[in-house]
Amino acid sequence: MTLLVAHTLPAFAESNGHAPPIVIAHRGASGYLPEHTLEAKTLAYAMKVDYIEQDLVMSKDNHLIVMHDIHLDGVTDVADRYPNRAREDGHYYTIDFTLPELKQLQVTGPFALSQGKRIPKYGRRFPLWKSRFQLATFDEELELIQGLNASLGYGIGIYPEIKKPYFHQREGRDISKAVLETLKKYGFTSSRQKVFLQCFDAEELQRIRHKLMPDLEMDLPLVQLIAETDWGEKQVIDDGRLKNYDYAWMRTDSGLQKIASYAQGIGPWFPMLIDNTTERFTANGLTSTAQSLGLLVHPYTFRADPEQISEVAGDFDKLLAVFLEDIGVDGIFTDHPDKAITFITTHKRPNKIQASRELPVR
Ligand code: G3P
Ligand code: CA
Repeated sequence: MTLLVAHTLPAFAESNGHAPPIVIAHRGASGYLPEHTLEAKTLAYAMKVDYIEQDLVMSKDNHLIVMHDIHLDGVTDVADRYPNRAREDGHYYTIDFTLPELKQLQVTGPFALSQGKRIPKYGRRFPLWKSRFQLATFDEELELIQGLNASLGYGIGIYPEIKKPYFHQREGRDISKAVLETLKKYGFTSSRQKVFLQCFDAEELQRIRHKLMPDLEMDLPLVQLIAETDWGEKQVIDDGRLKNYDYAWMRTDSGLQKIASYAQGIGPWFPMLIDNTTERFTANGLTSTAQSLGLLVHPYTFRADPEQISEVAGDFDKLLAVFLEDIGVDGIFTDHPDKAITFITTHKRPNKIQASRELPVR
């Protein structure tokens, strides 16, 4: 019966008359395996996603490591293996460890410490510390995806993110240059290859657009990620003190115009696209304004874990219907790419959804 439904409903593109939205595997198929491991990327590949995401930070010996945070303590056993290597703030920084040291670490799903215990951030995912997972380098991951493109032939793209350039600059590293050089080494030089390059740092993206890429004879499509100011994605010095970079300008008409001068898309947190002053999830105009300026809109992060879906939204498919059909975004970052692909290929009809004031964790 399920198969019959899948084949009789119109495909998303046929029914809407434009290209179907793309599915970006957020940190791999991270709803099912520890994020950013090669195993999670392989599973995402097998799900036939459009793009696989790589968050990138640097090691002490200048390798690009695929992981979300500049700290190791939330997804590895670093505190057990190297107990004396934390900085004064209590964090273990990837940039303080060499690649051979990093390869000794066991990787697991994201966890938080509570009363000395490690509690999984998502309770119903792959259990903590089971099996054996390692950190991977950007080179290893690109070779995996390109190798699978050769052997399976799905033509899946990459979607790297340069993490915290301001932090790496403070540590004396030019992470953006290193990322571009690696991309070029593997043949990713322009939009002729299936690649987007993303960053939360607007000034760094402009440096990439106007200085680094011309120097390296590259012309990659860039995506400006948009954060809430209080997340502290970027810090700047103001009046001699560190403070959070103010992201408010990016969600104004003139801000979007500015972004369109150096980037091809925006990556907003998905609640930024809806009007939360009404009783329903309705578009607040950010998507249509960005699209009218020629910008693609790729919001993050769609998660199907039951606790991530607001009670009023009801279920993951209804959430997807709002963003993919009613609002019409161009693609989504998701931890559960199989579910998003099933939604898109079966084109389920949207239902009217009441808004919830409780927003899911990012
Ligand atoms: O890059 C899109 C999305 O991943 C941004 O959020 O914090 O998960 O990297 P984050
Ligand atoms: Ca990311």
